[in-house]
Amino acid sequence: MAIEDKIKDLLERREKAFLGGGQKRIDAQHAKGKLTARERIELLLDEGSFEEFDMFVTHRCTDFGLQDQQYLSDGVITGHGTIDGRVVYVFSQDFTVFGGSLSESFANKICKVMDQAMKVGAPVIGINDSGGARIQEGVLSLAGYAEIFERNILASGVIPQISAIFGPCAGGAVYSPALTDFIIMSKNTSYMFVTGPKVVKTVTGEVVTEEELGGAMVHGAKSGVTHFVADDEREGILLIRKLLSYLPQNNLEDPPTIPNTDPIDRLDDALNYIIPDNPNKPYDVKDIIHSLADNNEFLEIQRHYAPNIVTGFARFNGMSVGIVANQPNYLAGVLDINASRKAARFVRFCDAFNIPILTLVDVPGFLPGTAQEYGGIIIHGAKLLYAYGEATVPKVTVILRKAYGGAYDVMSSKHLRGDINYAWPSAEIAVMGPKGAIEILHSKKIQEITDPAEKEAYILKAEEEYKEKFANPYNAAKYGFIDDVIEPRNTRFRIIRAFQTLATKKDVNPPKKHSNLPL
Ligand code: HXC
Repeated sequence: MAIEDKIKDLLERREKAFLGGGQKRIDAQHAKGKLTARERIELLLDEGSFEEFDMFVTHRCTDFGLQDQQYLSDGVITGHGTIDGRVVYVFSQDFTVFGGSLSESFANKICKVMDQAMKVGAPVIGINDSGGARIQEGVLSLAGYAEIFERNILASGVIPQISAIFGPCAGGAVYSPALTDFIIMSKNTSYMFVTGPKVVKTVTGEVVTEEELGGAMVHGAKSGVTHFVADDEREGILLIRKLLSYLPQNNLEDPPTIPNTDPIDRLDDALNYIIPDNPNKPYDVKDIIHSLADNNEFLEIQRHYAPNIVTGFARFNGMSVGIVANQPNYLAGVLDINASRKAARFVRFCDAFNIPILTLVDVPGFLPGTAQEYGGIIIHGAKLLYAYGEATVPKVTVILRKAYGGAYDVMSSKHLRGDINYAWPSAEIAVMGPKGAIEILHSKKIQEITDPAEKEAYILKAEEEYKEKFANPYNAAKYGFIDDVIEPRNTRFRIIRAFQTLATKKDVNPPKKHSNLPL
């Protein structure tokens, strides 16, 4: 064959591969409002940067007549490219080929990019749209999944792993994403479940729709499985690009610093008045975050889940910083099971990838009651305590208002190796709030007073005394547990200077095989 013919043959093969499971199935994919596997990669990566691997791979199954159904690429597109000029590895499952289900060859292709990403030290982005293990391949596909799981586990904390869910994902197709750092789901077109509604009905008799069982908002707000809920795939892909801009390529590098145009000494007078005089009145801590961050930008993680704690990324003088903030606007910012788990995972992610942590504190304590106790608040609350205490990245804390009880300790206190701990003049640091404290300390005396007016006056006076003693930051500052009490409007500057000072911080934990986080 002449070289011209050989090249023609190559181009024809490529054309065939580009068609995946065929035009009819591509049209069906589009009709559902979904993009194809290749279109998603094109949108994700810098233009013209995609280098594809294994386009000519096919499956090797000869059962169920599969030998006559061969598709080039075998249902997953893999390779590498760049995002904002930085190398990333990708795999994108092609629902038009056997519903994106995973065969032995399909798994090998994913393992190949994961192995190379680990050697190169670059993030892996997986775009999932799959019916799980390819049924016709039996144990070979189960083995393929387990090979991927093992790589997800070994890569955890070494390179960032991000999963997009852009279709119905079942079985193994959800467990691999669950092992990665961040999950992004698109509304109305993506579902995650261990098994779908049909099996649920057979096993438990429960009748549910796909959306009710594992839609984007279910996992965004109820289970907390997904970190982002995008309106559509395009928004989801842009979110991945944005998220990566805050992350280093691997655990040995620092996150990228970008040029900053927002003055570091920008004062915000409104911050002096943002905390209401009434300590029980809420406010939105996100207003404070936006005011402090470069260009008022904040990328929130798990926005719909446990909104009593806010987590996300921002920049300070161009440096990437992870923020954890209690949210007085929701359940008074109390720490409950979900909030503790959410923040603990975020703190551990930041620590694994050298991202400094800013903690903004306004917390009345842990949520009491049987629902929380039966659910294991002790063990889940301990996760956040553990995560902060274990973290060695620079930790800057600002107590805005309440820091009560165990929650004071937990929220990146000095005693958990908080590096620089500031408080606003509005800070109240105590074992508990005045009401609860007086009820306990003066219970006998209060019971003895029979006249209601006298009782009320006594309680008020006792509360006033208590507030004078504890409802301020100076008692903690007296012991050096607060490094300085700062003027709210100048907080941005103080945070930036703190992180700049801490940029060369080195701290280590004792050598061990691994820690035993209370799971
Ligand atoms: C082989 C599959 C497949 C699978 C779908 N297809 N899932 N082929 N193995 N697992 C094929 C269909 O036969 C069909 O082929 C095409 O993909 C599209 O599927 P449809 O059912 O027509 O699409 P839709 O109605 O959108 O439903 C999508 C779905 C459903 C919800 C994903 O197909 C489904 O429930 N699939 C099975 C899910 C599952 O239980 N997987 C196994 C999990 S066990 P044609 O030729 O008609 O286009 C697992 C174990 C891993 O993964 C270990 C975990 C720890």
